[in-house]
Amino acid sequence: MTEKDSGEKLGLIGPSYDLKSGADTLAHYETWADTYDEEVNEDLGYAQPARCAAALADVAQSIDGGTGGRLLDVGCGTGLSGLALRDAGFTNQDGCDFSQPMLERAIATGIYQRLFEADLNEGLQVGDGTYDYAAAVGVFSFGHLEPPVLREVLRVVRLGGAVVVGLNDHFWDLGTFTTELEAIQADGIARVTFQEHGDHLPGAGIGGWVVVLVRPAD
Ligand SMILES: C[S@@+](CC[C@H](N)C(=O)[O-])C[C@H]1O[C@@H](n2cnc3c(N)ncnc32)[C@H](O)[C@@H]1O
Repeated sequence: MTEKDSGEKLGLIGPSYDLKSGADTLAHYETWADTYDEEVNEDLGYAQPARCAAALADVAQSIDGGTGGRLLDVGCGTGLSGLALRDAGFTNQDGCDFSQPMLERAIATGIYQRLFEADLNEGLQVGDGTYDYAAAVGVFSFGHLEPPVLREVLRVVRLGGAVVVGLNDHFWDLGTFTTELEAIQADGIARVTFQEHGDHLPGAGIGGWVVVLVRPAD
């Protein structure tokens, strides 16, 4: 049995790797919002939020001496990523997502200063360099964010700031995300300062990557 097959036996995780369009994805999260936290976090031990938060906190410490900067949690979902970032010291965060049912749960966490609806594949209505950091945890995936959206996420982070991305092995292994990472570095937009393989959803036997990119200082 492949890792993907074992994932398909578990709740709504399996179908999330078969999504092909934004409309599919919106419908999927409309159904999943009520049970998402229980399934991915409590049942499957969702590891990426804490891994991403720790990696970004280390980089924030080295570039800014702490985690007090302004952060955007891109595709914040119900807020599991934001909660891990808050626990790592990021207390000044906004979040965005295109699923209203997921955003409603994020509101209930009380950890975001501002939450807004945005389809990331259509761009962000946010000025250049607005944030010190951004996090995109579990959002570069099938039918979710396309790899070129990483440029848009980097655009809203100031020069010298950092972005952390956490993604599953299935999407990573397609190669489209790593091709975009190489192109972004070749274009001088940001450089990868941290890249680590580890757990994504350990309860489903699914691994994933954490990548931190830092924008050039000027
Ligand atoms: C697997 S969840 C991850 C949520 C959260 N970051 C976490 O780690 O729990 C993926 C999230 O991405 C959002 N999403 C998918 N495609 C999107 C798009 N095009 N624009 C904005 N959000 C999107 C979904 O609505 C969902 O909340």
